[in-house]
Order: sequence, then C-alpha cells, then structure tokens
Amino acid sequence: MRNLLLFLLLFLPTTFCISQPYKEAGSAFKDTDGNPINAHGGGVLYHNGTYYWYGEIKRGKTHKVPGSTWENYRVNAGGVSCYTSNDLKKWKFSGVVLPANKTDKTSDLHISKVIERPKVIYNKKTKQFVMWMHIDSEDYAYARSGVAVSNSPTGPFKYLGSERPNGNMARDMTVFVDDDGKAYHFYSSEENATMHIALLTDDYLKHTTTDKRILIGLSREAPAVFKYQKKYYLISSGCTGWSPNEANYAVADDILGEWKAYGNPCLGKDADKTYYAQSTFVLPIPGKSGKYIFMADQWNKLDLEKSKYLWLPLTINSRGIPEIKPN
Ligand code: DGJ
Repeated sequence: MRNLLLFLLLFLPTTFCISQPYKEAGSAFKDTDGNPINAHGGGVLYHNGTYYWYGEIKRGKTHKVPGSTWENYRVNAGGVSCYTSNDLKKWKFSGVVLPANKTDKTSDLHISKVIERPKVIYNKKTKQFVMWMHIDSEDYAYARSGVAVSNSPTGPFKYLGSERPNGNMARDMTVFVDDDGKAYHFYSSEENATMHIALLTDDYLKHTTTDKRILIGLSREAPAVFKYQKKYYLISSGCTGWSPNEANYAVADDILGEWKAYGNPCLGKDADKTYYAQSTFVLPIPGKSGKYIFMADQWNKLDLEKSKYLWLPLTINSRGIPEIKPN
C-alpha cells in the first residue's frame, strides 16, 4: 500500500503532465488566456521554482522564398516570446522578451531575417540571463549566432549582436550549462555537415577559442543536450528543412571529448519520423533522476504559425540508452 501511494505520488503527476500534450498535439498547448502558445524551436529554463519557456514567434503568412534552390518556406521573424509555469501544464504568456525590428532592414532582428531556436541560460556569477539564438538571412546564408542579455528572466532582453563563432557558420543551436558553471554552445556548422561545441566565456556572452568539431560529416541539426550520471547526451535531427526525419542520440564521457553517434532514441509507431516532429530541447524533471521531457516541434511548413508541439517522456534505460515513447 505504501509503495502504491509512493508510485502514485511520484509518477502520476509526471505521466499526466507530459502525456497529455502528445494526444492533443498542438491543441493542448494554449496559454492561460486560451491563446495558442507561440514559442517554436524553444527551450525551457528552470529558475527558482518557475519554468520559463522561450521560443520563436511565428506569425503571419508563410511563403516560399523565391529562387531558393531548396524547399525554403518562411514567415516573418516575430522575435522571442516567454511563457511561465509552475507545473508545466498551465503556461502564462509573459511577453515578447526580444521583439523583432519592423523598420531597420539592416538589423539582425528585422522581420525579414530569421530568428530561430532561442535558448536562455542563467549565469550565477553575473546574475544575468543570457539568450543565444540562430540569426540568419532568409536564404540562410548569413549563418550566425546572436546573443542578448537581461537582468530578469522575463526580459526585456538587450540584443548585443551576432557573430560566426570562431569564424564558423552557425545555424541550429542550443546552449548547455555544466555542473561546474561552464556553458557550451552547440551549433550546426560547415553547411550543417558538422556540429561544433564552443566553450563560452565566463559571462556566457562570447565564444572562447575552445571549439570542438563533433559528428563530423553526419549532417545533424536541432541539437538538444542533457547530462545523466556524468555522461553527456545529444539528441539531434537530420537535415531535411521543415520535413520530419529520424532522430539520433550521441553520447560522450567528456563534453569536449569524443562523441559517438548511436541510433534512434524514438520507439514505436512513426519513430523513423520522430512522430512527425523535430527535437528542440530536453528538459530534466526536477528531483526525478533519469526522467526528462523531450520537447519537439511538429512543423507545418505551409503555415508555420500553425506548427504544433510534441512533448514526450524521455527516460534512460538500465543500459544508459535514452528512450522516447509515444503514448
Ligand atoms: C530545420 C531547422 O531545424 C529549423 O530550425 C529551420 O531552420 C528549418 N530547417 C528551415 O528549413
């Protein structure tokens, strides 16, 4: 009886809150005002008991970029939104924390540009919230990383500029803070053929020259990173634009050491298409070792604003293999 109670207490709330969204992918993700959550390619920061979900605002008409040699659909850049929650179920819209620029065509944040995959980390030393994001031109040739900073998790964030880390092309990305406070920027580089990991400076605002090439020539994007029992895990997608493909997980003993790509962490029906979604973040469930939420985007390339979200439980099995299962 005691064990049953313990099981119910520990697992039912989690099972409920992370299984619900898959069944109703998209429709379940409304904010507390009843509006669809607009936070794509997002990530979650857990800070002082609150979850902050940051993501791309996609609003307006999707069009195909004329003259593009690949299937390049785009929508005006809308900036970065933030939603807050205490339970991962109810999300309150907390504002546009980094707005797009409507007037200055030369700005990185102009609506004609690409602002994708924003991720926010907290720097304990500077007490600042640092946002890194993929900044691009509509043909994706600019290939840079932008950075913004704020004293508050709900912004406003001050945009500091963009760079090509150590001169390298940089597109899909995430940032990861290790237990020792060092932060790393994972970015798809070299025309997306090879992933890089750059160590950020102590204030997290710039790249150091420590920049490691991993998954060389494997063409991976949409990186999501987490650590479990001293090992580092990286889930990524293949490169097929907005169309779904098979995910892969890679593991390393040392974050700047050798990363080995294994296979698909997804199980069951539609696993070869990541359930028609693409990774964006892996959120550790506080207090539940080895339990995570796999956050993914179900892109609607013909109407990007209508893209949905897919959140699934991710667990690590006894052999250290990550497993994502549809409900
Ligand atoms: C795949 C990336 O993961 C997305 O963030 C976006 O850049 C699309 N490609 C654009 O086609």
